[in-house]
Amino acid sequence: MPVSDHELRAAWKTVLGLSKVRVGEVVTVLANRSTHPQNLAAATAALHDLGAVVTRLELEPCNAEKSQSRDPLAYLGDTPLTGNPAAMAACLASDMVLDLMLLLFSPEQQQILESGTRILLAVEPPEVLVRLVPTLEDKARVGAAAERLAASRVMRVKSPAGTDVCFQLGQYPPVQEYGFVDEQGRWDHWPSGFILTWPNEGQSEGRIVIDRGDIVLPLKRYLSDPITLEVRAGYATRIDGGLEAELLREYMEGFNDPEGYAISHIGWGLQPRARWSTLSLYDREETIAMDARAFAGNFLFSLGPNLEVGGTRNTACHIDVPLRGCTVTLDDEPVVIDGSLA
Ligand SMILES: [Fe+2]
Repeated sequence: MPVSDHELRAAWKTVLGLSKVRVGEVVTVLANRSTHPQNLAAATAALHDLGAVVTRLELEPCNAEKSQSRDPLAYLGDTPLTGNPAAMAACLASDMVLDLMLLLFSPEQQQILESGTRILLAVEPPEVLVRLVPTLEDKARVGAAAERLAASRVMRVKSPAGTDVCFQLGQYPPVQEYGFVDEQGRWDHWPSGFILTWPNEGQSEGRIVIDRGDIVLPLKRYLSDPITLEVRAGYATRIDGGLEAELLREYMEGFNDPEGYAISHIGWGLQPRARWSTLSLYDREETIAMDARAFAGNFLFSLGPNLEVGGTRNTACHIDVPLRGCTVTLDDEPVVIDGSLA
């Protein structure tokens, strides 16, 4: 359903309020031609309602000659801020950046955060944002999961489909995604609602079976046949299966980067209002499928970069896969049982 300007502006005011936007705060809004115009207008109006000093910065898109699709997650690394000191100066001088274009996993994003500026990413269409407005309960649920994750040294994941994989933990901290930015230097993404971390470098071992019905992103497909990944010393070393495995292999080969096969973030979905089935209702270019990443009880793993937690793996290739039906344990204590939160 379409969203009224009034309702979307109210949703933005809620999220910006949770993000502690105050009178006189300096906020830079980053947009490009893929930014949804209703989001841009509503975010700007809500910022003015809250008394912020607003700058809108329209940046040129980049990477079109290298990316294999129009999904903003289909090619990472360089962004329109790369080599753009004027735009970087605006971001660094701001209390907050609203990212309505997607800087994810870029060195520039890390630099902005390290300066103390907080960044809120929001690129889903207005009706998804309105349905998944974050709450303090979301933050509490994600925070509790972060505490458990921070205290754990081994994550093991099993499923009836054949997944049996083990990740050693401790090198990297948990990252909480609850949908708003209420601390200096914090990054978050509206909508979300999940917990993630990165396994120790080189210490992921086992087999991951992406089952029929599971979603592979950014391909945005529900599998009709399973894909099996062999995981050795922190990398996916084989990708076997039918047509969809072929498509995934071919897609990843396009980056010509062995680091794209590294195990990246791992965690589980904690958002009861996000749905596995939502992606089936959308044209694939209308969404980046945050429902698929956040729905409660999924095991979300990924392949690709680790810049977000201070690593040096700056690969352009990034695959996200939320699995259903898994049992996830931390030091032998379950946090997800058969695809439901424990
Ligand atoms: Fe990811």
